[in-house]
Amino acid sequence: MLDKDIEKILVSAEEIDEIAKRLGKIITEEYKDKFPIVIGLLKGCVPFMGKLITEIDCHIELGFMDVSSYHGGIQSSGDIKIKKDLNIPVKGRHVIITEDIVDTGRTIKVIMDLLKYRGAISVSVVTLLDKPEGRVVVLDPEYIGVTIPKEFVVGYGLDYEEKYRNLPYVGVLKPEVYSTK
Ligand code: IMP
Repeated sequence: MLDKDIEKILVSAEEIDEIAKRLGKIITEEYKDKFPIVIGLLKGCVPFMGKLITEIDCHIELGFMDVSSYHGGIQSSGDIKIKKDLNIPVKGRHVIITEDIVDTGRTIKVIMDLLKYRGAISVSVVTLLDKPEGRVVVLDPEYIGVTIPKEFVVGYGLDYEEKYRNLPYVGVLKPEVYSTK
């Protein structure tokens, strides 16, 4: 049913499986003695984080934050709000932030700076998608699933007005979906 709103698939379910396996292996190797906290930024992190952590074969602790940067549309507002903060201390810990997409980089930058200020030993970023053309701050995620063009995408955690997060792939919406609002 949701498929009918999608113009094209950008990253297929099979590709996402491979990405999670590849990044899970690298993270396992690099963090096997560090017991990192893997922090998901809600709600977009849910599908990718769920898959990724099952590919990490060492001890990790999970944490979540709810941060908003968009307010329902397709443009980043640049206004970052922490709606739910982490409930575990990061002081003296290694932290890996898990994102669905890094676009302007503003959201991750604010959270990275906050976690460093709170005393994390290291803060790295793993993201399913990277849109480097959208960047307005200096930020290079350590672990990137796939780099995509500056296009608005939905699926696998990414929403348009809270919808389409449950698509099993990442795709581009048909223009009429926006215009018939
Ligand atoms: P940034 O702060 O601009 O890097 O934006 C990060 C957040 O913006 C992501 O976690 C998404 O929630 C949202 N976002 C950025 N690009 C897209 C997109 O193409 N589709 C849906 N949400 C997006």
